[in-house]
Amino acid sequence: MAIRETKRVTMRQIAARAHVSVGTVSHVINHTAGVREPVRRRVVEAIERLGYQPSLLARGLRRNQTTIIGVIIPDISNPFFPLVVRGVEDIAYQNSYRLMLCNADNDAQKEQVYFDELRAYRMAGLIVIPSANSRLVAAAGTAGELPVICLDRCPEGWKGDSITVDNAEGAYQATRYLLGLGHRRIAAIAGQLHVTSAVERLKGFKRALRESGITIAPEYIQEGRFDRLSGYEKSLMLLQFSPRPTAIFAANDLVALGVLAAMRELGLRCPEDVSLAGFDDLEIASFTNPALTTVAQPAYQMGARAAALLFERLRGENLPAQHIVMNTSLKARDSTAAPSRSQ
Ligand code: RIB
Repeated sequence: MAIRETKRVTMRQIAARAHVSVGTVSHVINHTAGVREPVRRRVVEAIERLGYQPSLLARGLRRNQTTIIGVIIPDISNPFFPLVVRGVEDIAYQNSYRLMLCNADNDAQKEQVYFDELRAYRMAGLIVIPSANSRLVAAAGTAGELPVICLDRCPEGWKGDSITVDNAEGAYQATRYLLGLGHRRIAAIAGQLHVTSAVERLKGFKRALRESGITIAPEYIQEGRFDRLSGYEKSLMLLQFSPRPTAIFAANDLVALGVLAAMRELGLRCPEDVSLAGFDDLEIASFTNPALTTVAQPAYQMGARAAALLFERLRGENLPAQHIVMNTSLKARDSTAAPSRSQ
């Protein structure tokens, strides 16, 4: 079936109706030169009567740049990332820019395709939350004048602007909290260990144990994939060890949801049998049963700050690359308690 060609009103038609030149119409639309008020009113009236819609595509071609910010995220099904994008979108909209959102599915190849195409579409700038195994460092080095901001994770060798939280400190505080409750057999389900945020959280976990003189069995540390399924699978195994861990630190809240599912399947109670702490403080963390102890990240603020930094770059502020580290905060809820004597 042929796609119906829509007849677009042209500037030439506006000019003919308003009895002015196309140049005058362009000046009125783009506010690029003063136009006498009676003439301007005739052009505006013609635009309204004919329903003219300026072509942003044509404007982008003329300027060789659009007013669109490209945003690449690794996993759109993880509620954490839409929170970040929400912050980006608010700042972009305030600056009359729009977003083009791309989900890389944690696939470095797909991320590279998106990165190249967004550049080809002449995005004004890019905000990227790198996928696992991201090749962004090499790609961004060829991005020329295109401002690229890295969010949430920083691939090895990244030299541009970036915004993350102090992942290690957040995990350290969560683990210290579990130790403070009296737990000694604490297991961890990490994210993919080629993702910088996963590596840093595991470092924070280990630092807290080390400072307390606690050693754990190597198998108490399992590598997951920052998702519910890996949380479920890894905790099914962990919770059948003997002796069983009395607490689990999950590298994000989705992993923690998987742990809760495994506990239910094994007939274990949280926190009576096993305490649980997560990371992110997704909205669902307050509504799980029990409510989840977790490490809150300022997701919205990370996105808003990244967008603000991008607009500073677009305004030509050639400051040295900035690596902004934002703080996390521990949210102690009902999924953690002191271990019982029987544990
Ligand atoms: O990509 C998984 C995790 O990385 C998210 O849950 C969030 O913690 C981000 O930092």
